[in-house]
Amino acid sequence: MTGAAAVDFVLLEKQLLALIGFEPDPLANTANFVGLLHDAIPEINWLGVYVLRGDELVLGPFQGKPACVRLPLGKGVCGTAASRLRTLRVADVHEFPGHIACDPASRSEIVVPLVLGQELAGVLDIDSPVPDRFTESDQRGIEMLCRTFAAELSKKTRRPRATRFI
Ligand code: SME
Repeated sequence: MTGAAAVDFVLLEKQLLALIGFEPDPLANTANFVGLLHDAIPEINWLGVYVLRGDELVLGPFQGKPACVRLPLGKGVCGTAASRLRTLRVADVHEFPGHIACDPASRSEIVVPLVLGQELAGVLDIDSPVPDRFTESDQRGIEMLCRTFAAELSKKTRRPRATRFI
């Protein structure tokens, strides 16, 4: 673990609700979710959302270097977190079997499934150039933000699945 400054996740949640609370468009809201978190979480080199499309995760809004576009479910950190429907916090990506390296600078990673209602919609993926960057407390805070984000999107997403962005 590093000496990265602690993030105020409670404040971030308020800012998130202010940013997306009155906007119905899921793409705009996902872009602002990503922008807000990327700006607030120190010592990261990539943060973005992959959206579930069939049996693949497809690249959505992100901040960082251009990344792999399609990730199979069950493979890599993102696909494994998505298929298990649980967060994966990886201290050293080089030790994770099947890790998919999009940016060689990445050394640690956290992936949180985004669940709308009962349905997996995608994942939030955050990479850091610092080994063991993410603490348990970061995990709890990021999971809380993902639940809030997913709940807000669920309230506004009443269209058929095929026409949704996320
Ligand atoms: N490392 C991820 C791939 C996505 S990039 O990090 C942006 C994985 O193993 O699934």
